[in-house]
Amino acid sequence: MCCIMPMYGNYSNTLYLYVLHNASPITVFIIVVLYSRFHFESYQQLQAMRFAVDAINRNPDILPNVTLGFQAYDSCDFLQYDLKGALQVLTGYDGVIPNYRCTPDVPLSSIIGPAISTHSILIAHILGLYGYPQISHYSTSSFLSDRRTFPSFFRTVPSDIFQSKGLAHLVLHFGWTWVGLLAADNDYGQQGIQLVQQEIVNGGACVAFTENILMSQPNRNAPHIVNVMKASTAVAVVVYSTDVDVIPILEEMLLQNVTGKIFIASEAWSTTTVATIDRYNTLLSGTLGLALHSGTILGLIEYLNKIDPSMELGRDWIKIFWELAFNCNFISDKNETGSLDTNVNKCTGTEDLESIQNIYNDVSSLRTAFSVYTAVHVVVNALEAMNNCKKGEESYSCPDIYNFMPWQLLHYMKKVRFTQNSGREVFFDKNGDPPATYDIVNWQLSPSSAMKYVKVGSYDTADPHGNVFTINISAITWTSGNQKVPVSVCSQSCPPGFWKATKKGEPVCCFQCVPCPQGEISNHTDSYNCLKCPWNLWPNPDKSRCLPKLIEYLSYEDSLGKTMASTSTVSSLVPIAILKIFIQFKATPIVKANNYSLSCLLLVSLSFCFLCSLAFIGYPQLEKCLIRQVAFGMVFALCISCILAKTMMVIFAFMVTKPGSNLKKWTNPWVSYMIVFISSLIQFLLCLTWLSLSPPFPEENMETQPTIIILHCNEGSRTAFWCMLGYLGLLATVSFIFAFLARRLPDSFNEAKFITFSMLAFLSVWVSYIPASLSAQGKYTVAMEIFAILTSTWALVICMFVPKCFIILFSLPNQNFTAEPRGTHWETLCCSTM
Ligand SMILES: *[C@@H]1O[C@H](CO)[C@@H](O)[C@H](O)[C@H]1NC(C)=O
Ligand SMILES: *[C@@H]1O[C@H](CO)[C@@H](O)[C@H](O)[C@H]1NC(C)=O
Ligand SMILES: *[C@@H]1O[C@H](CO)[C@@H](O)[C@H](O)[C@H]1NC(C)=O
Ligand SMILES: *[C@@H]1O[C@H](CO)[C@@H](O)[C@H](O)[C@H]1NC(C)=O
Ligand SMILES: *[C@@H]1O[C@H](CO)[C@@H](O)[C@H](O)[C@H]1NC(C)=O
Repeated sequence: MCCIMPMYGNYSNTLYLYVLHNASPITVFIIVVLYSRFHFESYQQLQAMRFAVDAINRNPDILPNVTLGFQAYDSCDFLQYDLKGALQVLTGYDGVIPNYRCTPDVPLSSIIGPAISTHSILIAHILGLYGYPQISHYSTSSFLSDRRTFPSFFRTVPSDIFQSKGLAHLVLHFGWTWVGLLAADNDYGQQGIQLVQQEIVNGGACVAFTENILMSQPNRNAPHIVNVMKASTAVAVVVYSTDVDVIPILEEMLLQNVTGKIFIASEAWSTTTVATIDRYNTLLSGTLGLALHSGTILGLIEYLNKIDPSMELGRDWIKIFWELAFNCNFISDKNETGSLDTNVNKCTGTEDLESIQNIYNDVSSLRTAFSVYTAVHVVVNALEAMNNCKKGEESYSCPDIYNFMPWQLLHYMKKVRFTQNSGREVFFDKNGDPPATYDIVNWQLSPSSAMKYVKVGSYDTADPHGNVFTINISAITWTSGNQKVPVSVCSQSCPPGFWKATKKGEPVCCFQCVPCPQGEISNHTDSYNCLKCPWNLWPNPDKSRCLPKLIEYLSYEDSLGKTMASTSTVSSLVPIAILKIFIQFKATPIVKANNYSLSCLLLVSLSFCFLCSLAFIGYPQLEKCLIRQVAFGMVFALCISCILAKTMMVIFAFMVTKPGSNLKKWTNPWVSYMIVFISSLIQFLLCLTWLSLSPPFPEENMETQPTIIILHCNEGSRTAFWCMLGYLGLLATVSFIFAFLARRLPDSFNEAKFITFSMLAFLSVWVSYIPASLSAQGKYTVAMEIFAILTSTWALVICMFVPKCFIILFSLPNQNFTAEPRGTHWETLCCSTM
C-alpha cells in the first residue's frame, strides 16, 4: 500500500501522497556509478561506504540501538537509471511510483550521490521538493550551490568555483600567459572553463584558444581541436573534462604527432586510470592537475581484501569484479558438464585478493572513496545530533529517531560540524559546500615507465595558516623529464631597458619589446613604460639603471689640474727668487735706478698673480667662486698699477731734467705709490660693487652635455667680469701708450721699452683669451683662464725682470760698484737685443 510523500516547503500545484510510518533501522542509500564497463574505482567506493556503515553499526557509542542500512544502485552512467534509483528509494519499492511511498516501515534518511553533476541537478530538483537530504560525493558543478533551487543538496567535494580559481592560480603561478582551454560541452566543462578564463584574464594572462570537446560526436571533434593545438604556440592547455572524453583527443594527438604540451587537468580526470595506458606516456607525463583531497581510512585495505564471491550482498557485482580481477570465469555446473572448454580459466572463489595489486585495493591515495566515506559520516553525525536532541533545548519538539521526516534531518545536516582523524574539519557553508581542499598532483613516469600521481602541493581555502596555495616546484617533473619550468607565452618577456608595446589587434600578452627612449630607463622585465632618470642621474648603456652623471670640474686630481697647479706654484717662486736677488744687490745702480720699492711690490704681486690661479683649481665651493675672480682682478690690478706707476715715473723723471721744469715734486716716490693706490682702489671698488650686487656662485651645468654635470662658478654678472677685465686692459693700454711714447727717451732712464714690450705681450694674451674662453667648454674654460694668467704673468716676469737679473748676475762683477751709476744703459742694450 502506497501513500503520498509529504512535501517540504510551500509548493503549489503539487500532488499530495500519504506515507505510512513504521519504526525500523535507518537506511542510507547510495547511488554508485559503475558505468557500462565495470569500474574498479566505483566498486572501491561502494566498499568504502559498506566499511563506514559496518564500523558505525559495530560501535556501541555511535547511535546505540539504531542500525544503519543501505541500498546501492548502479546507474551505469545513465541519467534515467540515476533517476530510477532515486525514485525507488523514495517509493521504497522496486517499481517506481512517483510521489508515493510504499515501504512504510523504513524511515527515510538521505541519498548519497549521484556522481555526475547533470544527474545530481535533476535529482536535487526532485529531492528538494521533499526536503530529502542529498549528499553528492562527486558532483562539483557550481549550479548546485544555488540554495534556493536546491534546498536539500550537500556535497563532500568542493564546488567548481574553487577548482577554477585553483587551476587559474596554478597557471598564473608558473607565469604561463598564453594558455589554451579545452572543455567538455556539458555543465561541468562549460561552467568550469568560463571561470578559469575569467580568472586567468583577470590575472593578466591571455587565452590562446578555447575549444569544446563535443560529447555528441563519436570523435569528440578531436581532429579540429588537435589542429588548433598544433597551430598554437601555447604550451599549457587547461582541460576541463572527464577522462573518457579526453581519450579521443590523446589518440588524435598521437596520430598528428603533437607533443610538448603541458596539460592542466581538472579533478574529473586528474587521477584517472587513463594514465595507465602506456601509449599516452609521452603526452601525459608532466601533467599537473587539481585532485580531490586524499585521505586515509584506517583498516580499509583489510576490509577490501576480505570480500569473496560467496558473500550474499551484491553477489552479482562481486562475481563480475572477481572475474575481471583474476581474469577467470565462474562456470556454472551445468556448463561445466556440458562444454569442456579447457581454455577457460575457472574461478575457484578462493583466489587471494591480497596477492594482486589493482586500482580496487590501492588505498595509497583515496580520493572519491574518501569523499563517500565522509558523506556517510555526515549523515551519521546529523542523525546523532538529532538523536541527542533534548526536549526544550530547541524551539520545536525533538524528532523521534525511529520516526522522523526528511526535512527534520535536513535541519541537523546543515549544522553538521566534525573533525576527521586527519584533523580536517568537515562542515557546510550556507550553500551546502564544504571547505575547498585540493591536492595538486603531477603525473610522473616511474623508472618502470608506469605513471604515478605525485602530490606536489595543495589548494586549500580552509588552511589554518592561510596558505591557500602551496606548491613544491622542485618536486615536479615536466614533460621533458627535467626540472626546468616550461614556458607558455605569446611573446618572450621584455628585458630591462625595453617596454612592452602591444601589437594592434592582438591580445595584450602578444607584444613587441621597444627600447626605452633616450634618457629613460625600465629597471624590471616586462615593463609597460619607461621612466625618466632623476636630474642628477643618467641611464647606463643598457637603459636598465640610472647611473650618477659624471661631475666635471678642474680638480687637483686630474693631470691638467695637477700640471697647472704645480706650474703656478713653481712659477710663483721665480718672482720671489728675483726679489731675493734684488734685495741682495739693492746697492747696485741697476736696482737703484729702477725704483727699488716699486720693483719689490711688483715682484710680490707677480708672485701672487701666479698663486691666484690656484683658486681656479679644485671643487668650486661658494667661497672659491667669490674669491677667485676678485683675487685675480685685484692682484693683476696691483701688478699693472705698479707698471703704470713705473711708466709715469719714467716720464716725470724725464720732464724734470728738461730746463725750466717745475715738475720736481712729481718725482717724489709718493706719487708712484699714489698711482698704485688709486688704480688698485678703483678695481677694488669695482669688485666690491660686483660682490655686493651680483656675487658669483657655484652652478651645475647640465645642458652642455647630457651625461655630464659641469660644476663651475657662475660669475653672477658677466658684465662685471668683463668690466674688471676691461679695467685691467685699460690700465695695461695706458701703460703701453705712455711707455711707447717714452721708448725713445735718453737711455739712462729707459725702462719704457721693457714696459712697452711686456704690456704688448700682456694685452695680446688677454685679447686672444676672449675668443678662446668663449669657445671652450666645461673645465677647459677655467683651464683657459689659468693658462692666460700664467702666460701673461710669465710675460711680465720675463720682459720686466729677466734681463735685469741677467745683467746683475753675470755682468756686475765687471762693474765698478763705486762708479757713478750708469743707470739703465744695460737695460737698453738688453732690451734692444731681445
Ligand atoms: C537500547 O534499547 C534497550 C532495550 O530496549 C534499552 O534498555 C536501552 O535503554 C536503549 N538504549 C538507548 C541509549 O536508548
Ligand atoms: C614526430 O615529431 C618528431 C619531432 O617533432 C619527429 O622526430 C618524428 O619523426 C615525428 N614522427 C612522425 C611519425 O611524424
Ligand atoms: C553455458 O551453456 C550454455 C548452453 O550450453 C551456453 O549457451 C552458454 O554460453 C554457456 N555459458 C558460459 C558462460 O559459458
Ligand atoms: C620539495 O620536493 C623535494 C623533492 O621531492 C623534497 O626534497 C623537498 O623536501 C620538498 N620540499 C618541501 C618544502 O616539501
Ligand atoms: C625600479 O625603479 C623604481 C623607481 O626608481 C624603484 O622604486 C624600484 O625599486 C626599482 N626596482 C628595481 C628592481 O631596481
